[in-house]
Amino acid sequence: MTGSRSAPPASRELPTRRATIRLARELSMLLAPGDLVLLSGPLGAGKTFFTRALLRALGVPHAVPVQSPTFALVHEHGARFPVLHVDLYRVGGGEEVELLGLRERREEALLVVEWGDAYESELGGGALRIGIEVAQKSRRARLAVGDGGRPELQQFVARG
Ligand SMILES: Nc1ncnc2c1ncn2[C@@H]1O[C@H](COP(=O)(O)OP(=O)(O)OP(=O)(O)O)[C@@H](O)[C@H]1O
Ligand SMILES: [Mg+2]
Repeated sequence: MTGSRSAPPASRELPTRRATIRLARELSMLLAPGDLVLLSGPLGAGKTFFTRALLRALGVPHAVPVQSPTFALVHEHGARFPVLHVDLYRVGGGEEVELLGLRERREEALLVVEWGDAYESELGGGALRIGIEVAQKSRRARLAVGDGGRPELQQFVARG
């Protein structure tokens, strides 16, 4: 059984960092306040790298550093609209996620969350989930797999 989804997850090869930047730029044209992007993949896969590229594409100037919010949990950026960059690697559990009040912020902000797959409902659901897999063939190669979210977003992940 493959479940009830009608379409398989969309995937795109990211042979270089440039390809990851291109994916972020393309998605930036469609993302809007209310959207939730969940980024998964092993340590060092490129979740923060992707988010940085997305924020640049949404208008955060290069002079503004975009660092991993591993300890602060949430970094807020003023882009074309507010973007909350979240890293839940160190969060204590669902109740702590609730206390961050992120679901409510979706009314006016885009949420991009690393290590948040376990907390999709606390974050308000309906996420575009992007999994970044590290390919064996090259140090730089990745595979992005998109699932969920608005259908047009998922289609973008599939375009190469
Ligand atoms: N194709 C690629 N796409 C994205 N990043 C790449 C690629 N090739 C190499 N890299 C490098 O991989 C590293 C990814 O680090 P990054 O901090 O983004 O990982 P992460 O998934 O956020 O890790 P963590 O789970 O620790 O938060 C960067 O140093 C980046 O330059
Ligand atoms: Mg990271």
